[in-house]
Amino acid sequence: MRGKLITIEGCEGAGKSTQLALLRAFLSERGVDAVFTREPGGTSVSERIRGLILDAANREMTGRTELLLYAAARAQHIEELIEPALARGALVVCDRFSDSTLAYQGYARGMDLGLVRAADSMGTGGVLPDLTLFLDIEPKAAFLRKGGADSADRLENEGLAFHESVYRGYLEIARREPDRFVRVDAGPTEPERIFASILGVLKARGILL
Ligand SMILES: Nc1ncnc2c1ncn2[C@@H]1O[C@H](COP(=O)(O)OP(=O)(O)OP(=O)(O)O)[C@@H](O)[C@H]1O
Ligand SMILES: [Mg+2]
Repeated sequence: MRGKLITIEGCEGAGKSTQLALLRAFLSERGVDAVFTREPGGTSVSERIRGLILDAANREMTGRTELLLYAAARAQHIEELIEPALARGALVVCDRFSDSTLAYQGYARGMDLGLVRAADSMGTGGVLPDLTLFLDIEPKAAFLRKGGADSADRLENEGLAFHESVYRGYLEIARREPDRFVRVDAGPTEPERIFASILGVLKARGILL
């Protein structure tokens, strides 16, 4: 049986990596065939593209270039890693995916949403997440958690207003696609409690028994 693709989304510092570490430990204890990966990145070619995208020295990078680089990294990631893993029946868990492109390049950069979707679907080749977990916490609170932006990261260096637009973009996606894009309250609670709600969602969706 074909595997499932789960993606996790949220603003910088929302707790994605923390929750994925908990999920990885949980699944490995139960012997589930799971592949954990991230975007942009996940393969050697895609990680090199990630370097280009995030490098704070690349100040001249235009919105369209950024969009196409994300799509290129995603194409390689899908063909080389995600699609073969799904085909063998694995559970693939990806830290950020198409919704980040829609939220950052579409809603926050203000690029035409039709253009963003077209570029993204060239990248995905039509592969959609079966479920997306959106860690819902406002960017200000999330940044405080991680102790401020990483100055070497071009996207993290964008101001608070940009990240607030990203957040509003995510809320809009949640409004449009409530079945796939599930909000998980990631506010001021300990990681284990947030993880318990994630497990609840995965069980309710039949992804875990
Ligand atoms: N529920 C929580 N309560 C308090 N602190 C948390 C919680 N979850 C994560 N943190 C801490 O907040 C910081 C950011 O978390 P994490 O790195 O998991 O976020 P992220 O969404 O992966 O961020 P990035 O966008 O930078 O990848 C870390 O220092 C982490 O230990
Ligand atoms: Mg992270």
